[in-house]
Amino acid sequence: MASDGKAERPWWKKTVVYQIYPRSFCDSNGDGIGDLDGIISKLDYLQDLGVETIWFSPIFKSPQKDFGYDISDYRDIAPEYGTMQTCEKLIKEMHERDMKFVLDMVLNHTSDQHPWFIESRSSKDNPKRDWYIWRDGKKPLGKAPPTNWNAVTTGNGWHYDPATDQWYWSQFLDIQPDLNYRNPDVKAEMFDTVRFWLKKGVDGFRLDMISSIYEDAEFRDNPRSWRLLPSDKEMAVLFQKPVYTLDHPDTLTFMKELRSVLDEFSPPRFMVGEVSGPLPILKKYLGDKADGLNLVFIFQALRVGLEAEDIKELVSDVEKTFREPYDPVWVFSNHDRMRRISRLGGSLEKAKLNMAFQLTARGVPFIYYGEEIGMEQHRLPVKRSLDVVALRFIKKFGSGLVQLVNNIARSVAKESINRDDCRTPMQWNAGENAGFCLPAATPWLPITPSYKERNVDLESKDLNSILSCYKRFLKARQESPALNAGSFEFLDKGNAPDTLLMYARRAATDDGVKEAIVMLNFSDEKVKVINTLDEVKVIVSTRAESEPIQGNRILLNPWEGIVITK
Ligand code: GLC
Repeated sequence: MASDGKAERPWWKKTVVYQIYPRSFCDSNGDGIGDLDGIISKLDYLQDLGVETIWFSPIFKSPQKDFGYDISDYRDIAPEYGTMQTCEKLIKEMHERDMKFVLDMVLNHTSDQHPWFIESRSSKDNPKRDWYIWRDGKKPLGKAPPTNWNAVTTGNGWHYDPATDQWYWSQFLDIQPDLNYRNPDVKAEMFDTVRFWLKKGVDGFRLDMISSIYEDAEFRDNPRSWRLLPSDKEMAVLFQKPVYTLDHPDTLTFMKELRSVLDEFSPPRFMVGEVSGPLPILKKYLGDKADGLNLVFIFQALRVGLEAEDIKELVSDVEKTFREPYDPVWVFSNHDRMRRISRLGGSLEKAKLNMAFQLTARGVPFIYYGEEIGMEQHRLPVKRSLDVVALRFIKKFGSGLVQLVNNIARSVAKESINRDDCRTPMQWNAGENAGFCLPAATPWLPITPSYKERNVDLESKDLNSILSCYKRFLKARQESPALNAGSFEFLDKGNAPDTLLMYARRAATDDGVKEAIVMLNFSDEKVKVINTLDEVKVIVSTRAESEPIQGNRILLNPWEGIVITK
């Protein structure tokens, strides 16, 4: 409680999160794979950049078939990344810098190499049998999967195991069997695992595939649909509505139970969930009394056009759905999807404007490693894929066909079937291997070719670089209560063209109401706006040397974004 009796805003509401894909960030020991010591060596860089919270994609022990999203021990660290001691050191070093540590927690499934699953599949009467979801095949012959349930990765998600003549359910791939949360021992064990990490000082969790925790207890078939492809507005895909496999009411109750586990700890911790679907469904995960997850990703943003009208429509929907005390999440890239800058045709100016929106909208921004230097997608040949999803497609259809489809997917749908493309090593400098690993080492994925121009070293010395632009906006956001805690309102832009977006952020402080006005020019043209405000000043611009305020006019350059205040 603050001294005036008002509940204090928890820290995570105004934080900025930076996602690290540990395998790709910094290799300290020359094996070509990023590791925790490498990350520790870059904490000063992250602090200087101005991000507070770091989310680490999974670092647990794992056969690494899905690079950590297949866990074989939830209470140990993958040896290629370090040891539990290194992890504790990382947490400590981060806390000493007032930074927060967010762990990626995969509760829905384990690796098929997890000792629990090895036991579970060994016999029908093994005590761990019921820790996973096993069923007989469909009667009368038992040779068909138990239900028509599709997994999110296409195709039926049941896998036949000849050893016991039964099928196990997996919402992702066969190597990631789903845990059975209807078994109280599973739930108790996983909640204890969450506590184990909270006690180590973890400040939050990113929850993987959290909408798949429960399925229908009666194993009813999912109803059919006419829809083939997924959309952000409708849940149906591949001619099926996943009513019995996703967003189950028991899953929503589970969010609240998990929240009570986190609430056992102080200072406050937070959870952000990986959930897809229309906004009202996403909102359900936060609980009707804001007593569920703290945040959910709004993946609609990943694909929104960089146009004033599209952004305005999305923000209006989001503002309606996620009113205070709810907070939206603004995310444009991650380890599964095409990097935003590559969707924007590689344009640095557009990427800067996109960031100006992301860091000035109401909500919690999530930045994907390398986004701050304009790191691009690598168009890697499919036949050399390491990504398990691409490998599955290749196995089924052959690399020639998958390559062809991927070329089309990349240019038309702006997606890549091969997730390696967005996971290439961080570009630290213009030297051999971009400074990610020693020159003599072979990085686990090839470096993206544009690293000679797009890297931390070069961009730190250039005030006009995208990196410097991120730093300016992150600093402005950190220092301005209007930007990091204020309300949001679109402003009337008078006679200015429709390609201009203008909004105000306002926050009540002990020192009165603070206001910041954001102006974003989504066009190749200069834009003039009549300045009706006295004594305004520019807090920050996407351009290092720009003087937008010119007497009674405000002049914006093409794709320029500014924040002004009185
Ligand atoms: C999530 C992760 C993805 C992973 C999958 C299975 O979607 O983001 O990388 O492959 O879950 O855990």
